[in-house]
Amino acid sequence: MPETVMAKKTRLAPFTTLKVGGEAELWEVLSLAELKEASSEPFLILGAGSNLLISDEGVTERVVKLGKSFNSLDDFSGQGDVWLGAATPLPGLVRRAASTGLSGWEGLLGIPAVLGGAIAMNAGTRFGSIADTLKEVELMLAGEMVRLSADELKLSYRHSELPKDGVITRARFSLTASTPEKVEAVLAKVDAARKGQPKIKSAGCAFKNPEALSAGKLIDEAGLKGLKVGDAMVSLEHGNFIVNLGQASATDVLKLIDMIRSRVKVPLILEWRLWGFGEASHA
Ligand code: FAD
Ligand code: EPU
Repeated sequence: MPETVMAKKTRLAPFTTLKVGGEAELWEVLSLAELKEASSEPFLILGAGSNLLISDEGVTERVVKLGKSFNSLDDFSGQGDVWLGAATPLPGLVRRAASTGLSGWEGLLGIPAVLGGAIAMNAGTRFGSIADTLKEVELMLAGEMVRLSADELKLSYRHSELPKDGVITRARFSLTASTPEKVEAVLAKVDAARKGQPKIKSAGCAFKNPEALSAGKLIDEAGLKGLKVGDAMVSLEHGNFIVNLGQASATDVLKLIDMIRSRVKVPLILEWRLWGFGEASHA
């Protein structure tokens, strides 16, 4: 094992925004060689942990995290097509593009992801998604580097078709020249649309919106805001957010999900990725 790879049993909760989840062997990698080594056994790739519910028992696979050498925020000048590392945080990029007067990422304001996770989920809002500016990705797949065009990823609403066990290492984007003032004006609208979302620990919206409906509105109309299991609660501000009031467990969160689903008439599909619950559970 390369010396710099960190591979020890670690509680995963602090690596997620919901702050839930047990232990796994965590490998933080700083180079492609280290990524190859870490991904040579069954693994899961972790981004910013903002769309994950991880079991209280943790996961048996290695959990691989791309370290700071995959974060290219400091190198982002924004000129023309740009390659960026998969661990680059989206919030920093959105701000940097705004101050340089580049348009294309405004709709991503407020999404606490890194690029790899944002591409895997095709993160976005009604103002735009990562698919709008993505041109191609570089992946490590079974130890080899592969390039795929954005079209090949078949990005759609909160969905991508990445090859199984493919790890995005970097991605190429194309932004449009604008002015800081114009970009800031769009950002203000996106920000306003997020005002009803809670600021406390969550993993964003739990469910995808059913066709032409809002899951949050359906949950709200079913009178479920404030419904609690342990410290897991349906947000008082937005029905599609489950918040952790302090010590919520994954078991609490799953019980709450089951209660929501049993009380809302329309079938609700989870947006979150579940780790450590067995194949296809709760999906
Ligand atoms: P993670 O949650 O760590 O992982 C998500 C998936 O991506 C996993 O399957 C993981 O294996 C995979 N993945 C991560 N990195 C890589 C990689 N390098 N290569 C291959 N696969 C990888 N989402 C929206 O779409 N719109 C919103 O408006 C929005 N608002 C949110 C607000 C809050 C407060 C929070 C907490 C979340 C919100 N989310 C939103 C959800 C979340 O931020 C997105 O789904 C985001 O894309 C997850 O990115 P991540 O880096 O945290 O990925
Ligand atoms: N609404 C209610 N009650 C609620 C929540 C919402 O009545 O408790 C109503 C709102 O008033 C509005 C409608 O439902 O009329 C839609 O709500 P909102 O504008 O909040 O949008 P959303 O569909 O609930 C989506 C995304 C969010 C994204 C926002 C902003 C999904 C599942 N959710 O929310 O994405 O931030 O739009 O564009 O697509 C995420 O995916 O994690 C996420 C947070």
